[in-house]
Amino acid sequence: MNKAILLDMAVKAAEKTYSPYSGYAVGAALLGKSGRIYTGCNIENSSFSATVCAERAAFFKAIVEGEREFAAIAVVGGKQGDFQKECMPCGVCRQVMAEFCGNDFKIITSANEYMLDELLPGAFNFNSIM
Ligand code: THU
Repeated sequence: MNKAILLDMAVKAAEKTYSPYSGYAVGAALLGKSGRIYTGCNIENSSFSATVCAERAAFFKAIVEGEREFAAIAVVGGKQGDFQKECMPCGVCRQVMAEFCGNDFKIITSANEYMLDELLPGAFNFNSIM
C-alpha cells in the first residue's frame, strides 16, 4: 500500500467537497483488500444533521460496489485547501469503520498513521451482538 498515493487521492477527492456552511473540505481515499480505491468528500446539507462525512461517503460507495474488506483509509481536511493540519475522523465515521474493519485497518492522516483500536477502543461492533 502506497501512503503517498492514497493521501494524494484524498486531496483530489476533497476538491469535490460540498461544504458551503463550514467551508471545511474533507477528502478520503479508502483502499479495499481487492486493491480498488474508493474516494469520498464531505457533503453538507442545509438541515445540518443530514451532512455526510467524506469517510462515510467513501465507505458507502465501496459497499454499494460490493467491497466488504478494507486495508486502509487516508483522510485530509482543512479550510481553503490547506490540509497541513491533521484531520481526525469523527466518532460516527470511526463507528462505521468498526463495522467493516478489524485492527489491521490503518487510518492515515497528513501527520500520522493509526490502528482502528487506537481511535475507537472497545468498539461495539458486529461481534458484540452475535
Ligand atoms: N467532516 C468529515 O467529512 N469527516 C470527519 O471525520 C470530520 C468532519 C466534515 C463534516 C462537515 O462537513 C465538516 O467536516 C465540518 O465539520
